[in-house]
Amino acid sequence: MTKRCKTAILISGSGTNLQAFIDRVASGALDLELSVVFSNRPDAFGLVRARNAGISTACIEHGQFSNRDRFDFAVAERLDEWQPELLILAGFMRILSAGFVARYAGKILNIHPALLPTYPGLDTHQRVLDAGDEWHGSTVHFVTEELDGGPRILQGRLPVVAGDSAEQLAARVQIVEHQIYPEAAGWVGEGRAEFRDGRTWIDGAVADEPVIQTFDKLGRKV
Ligand code: GRF
Repeated sequence: MTKRCKTAILISGSGTNLQAFIDRVASGALDLELSVVFSNRPDAFGLVRARNAGISTACIEHGQFSNRDRFDFAVAERLDEWQPELLILAGFMRILSAGFVARYAGKILNIHPALLPTYPGLDTHQRVLDAGDEWHGSTVHFVTEELDGGPRILQGRLPVVAGDSAEQLAARVQIVEHQIYPEAAGWVGEGRAEFRDGRTWIDGAVADEPVIQTFDKLGRKV
């Protein structure tokens, strides 16, 4: 039996992406060991999802700390109780300090609701609508010090529908996220995708462009 990659999932809110990981692992389609779910908010619903799935949880409120470095250090010390080999940011609404990113260099993944490098930052769905873009989607990438700027691994794209509101678009993007995030994390967990010299490598070759998967307007892979 191969050793499963010990994985920590960091959340701040509802945790629908976390749920996608839980469901994939339970179905046998994803071979990660979900060791701990961490939240900076005690009321995050994702903690309930984790407990229901029998996964250990940890919570440290960032408001107790005088600065980002101290909070991040406390988080890392706590996470290291589980010796995670992979950190999954799943709606973790904190910018990570340079020290935290360096401590887990190449081992942190994020999902950002846009086709990076377009639309880093907030309000991506509204920005896509305002620009009249034909396509929107989400990107799984390695985390570096640059916000939403680390090397990309996998993108899921889907068409913008005329008359979409930002909320409707966000909901459809999430359906895509729940498919691409566990898939990309699985690639990293099994060593197929890795972060080396600041770049993404897939199957032993540099991949400066992400793998792109296309979905229809209902979020079904085409
Ligand atoms: C996701 O849409 C992701 O793109 C962003 O945060 C959101 C988290 O949603 N980084 P959820 O808590 O997984 O539902």
